[in-house]
Amino acid sequence: MRTHYCTDVNENNIGETVTVAGWVNSRRDHGGIIFIDLRDKGGIVQLVADPADCKEALEVAETVRDEFVLIATGKVRARGEGLENPNLATGKIEIILEKLVIENKSKPMPFDLNDEKVNDEIKLRNRFLELRSAKMLDIFKLRSKAAIQVRNTLDELGFLDVETPILTKSTPEGARDYLVPSRVHGGEFYALPQSPQLFKQLLMVSGFDKYFQIAKCFRDEDLRADRQPEFTQIDVEMSFCDQEDVIKVAEKVIYDVFTKCGKTVSETFPRMRYQDAMETYGSDKPDTRFEMPLVDVIDIFANSTNEIFSSIAKDKKNNRIKALKCPNGDNIFSKRQMKGFEDYVRKFGAKGLGYFQMKEDGLKGPLTKFFSESDLEEIIKVTELAVGDVVFFGAGDKKTVWDYMGRFRLYLAETMDIIPADLFSFLWVVDFPMFEIEDGRTKALHHPFTMPKSLEDTSDLEAIESIAYDIVLNGTELGGGSIRIHKEEIQSKVFELMGISDEEAREKFGFLLDALQYGAPSHGGFAMGLDRMIMLLAGTDSIRDVIAFPKTQKAQCLLTGAPSPVDAEQLKDLSLRIRKNVEA
Ligand code: AMO
Repeated sequence: MRTHYCTDVNENNIGETVTVAGWVNSRRDHGGIIFIDLRDKGGIVQLVADPADCKEALEVAETVRDEFVLIATGKVRARGEGLENPNLATGKIEIILEKLVIENKSKPMPFDLNDEKVNDEIKLRNRFLELRSAKMLDIFKLRSKAAIQVRNTLDELGFLDVETPILTKSTPEGARDYLVPSRVHGGEFYALPQSPQLFKQLLMVSGFDKYFQIAKCFRDEDLRADRQPEFTQIDVEMSFCDQEDVIKVAEKVIYDVFTKCGKTVSETFPRMRYQDAMETYGSDKPDTRFEMPLVDVIDIFANSTNEIFSSIAKDKKNNRIKALKCPNGDNIFSKRQMKGFEDYVRKFGAKGLGYFQMKEDGLKGPLTKFFSESDLEEIIKVTELAVGDVVFFGAGDKKTVWDYMGRFRLYLAETMDIIPADLFSFLWVVDFPMFEIEDGRTKALHHPFTMPKSLEDTSDLEAIESIAYDIVLNGTELGGGSIRIHKEEIQSKVFELMGISDEEAREKFGFLLDALQYGAPSHGGFAMGLDRMIMLLAGTDSIRDVIAFPKTQKAQCLLTGAPSPVDAEQLKDLSLRIRKNVEA
């Protein structure tokens, strides 16, 4: 039908007759001559309907409106002097219409494609129109390029692309499952996979050696800017490997994808122990594009005459007192802003937020009276204060302090606008604890199939480390993985330590425990969030931008209206009855 995409027409085609097809981006009537910007997936070319060249084409052009679909044939000519458009790839030429066919009309658009401020709801209801914008199309070109590179790299490295089931049994990744009722087995349910974790491990037992999949995963969890209920992982597993082998594969995939997408990144990334990440940045996914480390001051505060501080300082195992320097903060922030910072950390469990100001004649602030001169000097020394700086303090149980001081570090850096844009700061966080205890329950920090470094001493479960690693980019968890348990007795022991009974373990993971008894090789792997990777590559701050048909914060698809009620007949087939007035 067409001879060229719009942006393939250039000065080399001058004098030739070409046919292009696309949508009317805009139409301008200049007293008898009509100019149309025609748009396709590549970009825009200018069509000219001039009665001197073709009267019929002008008659059609007069009826054309925005977003009509046209097929246009005409001769390419150079634009007149001074009429060139340097903002367009095709700005030096135009197509003089010889024939113009309206392939389809369009109703007036419900919103302006180029208006970034349009309400999200309108855009999501009309997502197919939003995707017409150049910004969106560029993101999906990037996504396609990245996904193809992932496949090429992993293929070159000898990985086999294997699909795993969508209708399956629960896989424990820490979220709620999406369930699908079975018609044939009334009252029973499939679960959609939270990840292909167990299947990829089984493929290693099958001897596939190296597996990968660009896999859809489903998790019913609270949604955030970087979370969707349905998302995509680059999922990898390999046999007879150690942590170094797996990290090498992940680094190669990242390097190849980012390079292919025109970004500069290094071939290997720095590493940090989990414990150090928590102590220094208050987070297991620290943003390392800027410094501002948390500094331990518990020993200095132990001497303080303030009872709250000194009693917190007595339990160094479970409590922390952390200082955060804000360079030049005394000159930047008003009293009101300082109060605002306290309100901010209180939202995350802080009881308060102490601070000192570094003045010409030393530290000032309401708390100084609780410290000796030499301890104030020590604070200046360890936090490396200069005149004009402010230093904030968080004190309390370690998990709360890490959390709110880590968040506060980010909040301050964003407020001060000191985070460099266009920088990709990767970090491996390694040596994760195997377990965490929450509300008295022992949970696996990654998942229960992760290999613990040793189970010899189980007196302090939170002190047991695992061979697990996360890859972090600019403060976002891009991916994670581990070396897996490949021996049935270790797997059973881990379930036992987590308080999972033999019966429950058999009921939920019997197939895995069985497989581990039939010559399971050592194995490990990782999964990276493809959506998150594209989000960071595209420099957008919402995961919705990189998913063609995303869900809202409330997990709805406004375009199709999912989820939606179903017929009584369908419910009956599925042996289901809806309870009215179900309590929230
Ligand atoms: P994990 O649960 O850490 O590991 O998931 C791996 C990566 O998947 C992405 N991700 C998400 N992206 C968007 N929306 C979500 N709701 C969402 N949840 C997770 C993140 C995350 O780092 N089976 C293990 C991996 C392994 O051990 O090999 C797993 O799924 O980028």
